[in-house]
Amino acid sequence: MSVTTVVGTRRTAKADAIIVFVAQDEKHFASAQKSLTSDIPHLLPLFASGDFTAKANQTALAYGGSATASPRVILVGMGPMASITPEKIRRAAAAGTKRAGASGCSSVAIEAMPMNGIDSATVAQAITEGSMLSQYRYDKYKTIKSESNGLVKKVTLVTDRPHLKAVTKGAGIGEHIVGGVTLARDLANAPNCEIYPETLAKKVQEVGKKAGFKTTVLDKKKIEDLKMGGLLGVNAGSVRPPVFIVMEHLKGPKNEKPLVLVGKGITFDTGGISIKPAAGMSDMKSDMHGAASVIGTMYTLAKLGVKRNVIALVPSTENMPSGTAYVPGDILTFMNGKTAEIDNTDAEGRLILADALCYADRFKPSAVIDLATLTGACVVALGTVTTGMMGTDEKTKNRLRAAADRTNEYVCELPLYDEYEEQISSDYADIKNSGGRNAGAITAALFLKHFVSYPWVHLDIAGTGIQPKAGHYTPKGGSGVGVRLLTDMIRHW
Ligand code: BES
Ligand code: MN
Ligand code: ZN
Repeated sequence: MSVTTVVGTRRTAKADAIIVFVAQDEKHFASAQKSLTSDIPHLLPLFASGDFTAKANQTALAYGGSATASPRVILVGMGPMASITPEKIRRAAAAGTKRAGASGCSSVAIEAMPMNGIDSATVAQAITEGSMLSQYRYDKYKTIKSESNGLVKKVTLVTDRPHLKAVTKGAGIGEHIVGGVTLARDLANAPNCEIYPETLAKKVQEVGKKAGFKTTVLDKKKIEDLKMGGLLGVNAGSVRPPVFIVMEHLKGPKNEKPLVLVGKGITFDTGGISIKPAAGMSDMKSDMHGAASVIGTMYTLAKLGVKRNVIALVPSTENMPSGTAYVPGDILTFMNGKTAEIDNTDAEGRLILADALCYADRFKPSAVIDLATLTGACVVALGTVTTGMMGTDEKTKNRLRAAADRTNEYVCELPLYDEYEEQISSDYADIKNSGGRNAGAITAALFLKHFVSYPWVHLDIAGTGIQPKAGHYTPKGGSGVGVRLLTDMIRHW
């Protein structure tokens, strides 16, 4: 999929369809109707019918005939002008592109001009994201790709001469963000038979080479030398060895302390000996979405050449039951010497993250942000719309909140009051790996807090990472959440 920018008009732009946004409120609708019907007389019957009212995401398709270089004209409603935000633009671009795809178009041109005070670079970025992300399919294992024959593969942004530079820049940023989100979705959606720890590591090395970040893979021997008892404990039941992946993008000032990202990389979570019910277990192929998010983010940062120091860590293993698996009652010793009693082998994410959080210490980070499909409790609390945010660093939480506003990857904070600590106290070890059903997202984060010695934020993406159905520009399954959020936060740091 590709995006380009041209100087032109709705009449001259050449694609299978030209997409035009129309605002709903009377004044804007009337002037759009006037200019559209004078540019393209073939739109007269459409407007005369009154069918198209320009409510948000409404689409109407007409044929431009001799008036347009593109055979089809697709109008997309924006709702009232004053309500237009980058998110509304992403959704409208997605709606228009989906309508084009459904009509058999493989290329679209989309008008990109400032709207409601939103500058043309931001508009172009939003159009690129919404349009391209709406065309994502995970169909690599479908031998008959009926649907993808109708997919839009080429997006052209159409603007005027004064906005060309800004639109080109915004589209370029959007394209690299889409690349990172797509990578994260592909990794999260890949089944365990394809993406397991060693193949995940191989994939990261390939991506790093292509995008331009450095990758180091620590194998089982190194993990043993480092005494990562959490990662080794969870891995004990698995035939496939664990890996610990380190990615480095050090493009900031030499003396700038790095931001460290950590992603949970459980390539499949059966629950282990505390095995999960069969129904819906296949979703647990995406239990490495935290890893996918940080890998996608590193791809985008490298492609954009963001001048910051960012390191990403991925502890990765399967969680399998077997004769050699860890069992409830076991006590694991982490890299920093702390111990945890295993109450439930299905609370495995926090165990591998604990070692990664210890490892992060060596980079003297300015802050650490971990992303993990950590708890079902977070899904119960916030559903699949909002990521659970917990942590010790107000500044980073505020930065994430600002980035969430801009990207619509919502975050909501849950508290880490000391009173919850007793739920994870153990009679035999320093702490216990499960705090029971109540406040499960919080007790999981409190477990992690025992391993941090720097400003820290934890993002529980169990709900937002794995979607039960498609959204405006997100597919069912792995959503790629986190890439747009983190990239936006780092770019605005
Ligand atoms: N990977 C799961 C959490 C999860 C659940 C992610 C649903 C996405 C969708 C995690 O490892 C897990 O099993 N957590 C347990 C913890 C419990 C045993 C304390 C949970 O949430 O039930
Ligand atoms: Mn689990
Ligand atoms: Zn898990």
